[in-house]
Amino acid sequence: MTLLGIETSCDDTAAAVIIDGRLASSVVSTQLEHADWGGVVPELASRAHERAIVPVVQKALRKAAIERSDLDAIAVTVGPGLIGSLLVGVSFAKATSLALGIPLVAVNHLDGHLASLFLSDLQPAFPHLNLIVSGGHTQIMRVIAPGQSELLGKTRDDAAGEAFDKVGKLLGLPYPGGPEIDRRARLGNSAFHAFPRTRLKGYDMSFSGIKTSVLYHLNAIETSEREAYLHRHINDLCASFQEAVVDMLVAPVKKAMKDHGIKDLGLVGGVSANSRLRGKLESMVLSLQGRLFVPPMAYCMDNAAMIAMAGYHQLRAGRKADLTVTANPSLVLA
Ligand code: KG4
Ligand code: ZN
Repeated sequence: MTLLGIETSCDDTAAAVIIDGRLASSVVSTQLEHADWGGVVPELASRAHERAIVPVVQKALRKAAIERSDLDAIAVTVGPGLIGSLLVGVSFAKATSLALGIPLVAVNHLDGHLASLFLSDLQPAFPHLNLIVSGGHTQIMRVIAPGQSELLGKTRDDAAGEAFDKVGKLLGLPYPGGPEIDRRARLGNSAFHAFPRTRLKGYDMSFSGIKTSVLYHLNAIETSEREAYLHRHINDLCASFQEAVVDMLVAPVKKAMKDHGIKDLGLVGGVSANSRLRGKLESMVLSLQGRLFVPPMAYCMDNAAMIAMAGYHQLRAGRKADLTVTANPSLVLA
């Protein structure tokens, strides 16, 4: 079975082909239009998707050495995400499904992230836990079977990646702040300042307090000395901030693993690229005699390979969509 996956939920236009459950090609075109704006501009994003979608799909077909007529099904992200961005992918997929007379599969973007663990040969057992941590989402899921999961905890305010990006902005770093903070933190002292860790009951998290703490910390420095202070201590501040965020992610995951007696943990989403988060989760999981699964770097960021894999699982379970399906920006993972 040859399936094309499409992902356009935010600022990456992506297409991928899966043949009989194995990835044959994956193409991601990252929009550079937003760099000067310090964040994704929805209107620019949807226009860029419109320009990119056809060439990106053509490239994915070419790399998989197939023709459009070889496709047996098409899977697309229907939410959550930016409405204008989602609509480009959804309209393209519906038109393709109608034109070729092939089934359409509607994929939740977060189910896609969960499925990214199944793009590798080494896969977690069911049930496993999964920490989804990106610019838009931070949640702990108990994954019972492909496409079937239960939400255990989530952030009550900012996503962890959003906190990285906002603090990056406060520190005057280029967008997105996450990778830059990670890089600088390796050169800094994480014990330089103890930013407070918010710890909620259960498995929920909160990242808005830490962002405010960084702002207050900077505001407490005389305006005339702030630039010199930042210049001298920026790596230490990155390391201290990152350490606090990582601690706030690791603690509820550890509790969930212990409470549910689950040994396998997946880590997915853009922030899973963070070296300190990987390191601390690895040691925590080892201390519980468990295993940590992280997809290859290319499938941590938004991509269509994970959407195609989630679509493949859904199709095998007989879950198809019809042409009445539409984009849902606030779709939740049921
Ligand atoms: O999953 P993703 O590509 O897009 C969505 O948000 O869905 O995640 C992007 C997020 C951004 O907030 C970015 O700053 C963060 O992932 N990120 C990182 C690192 N690499 C990417 N955060 C911390 N450390 C990193 N190395
Ligand atoms: Zn994502």
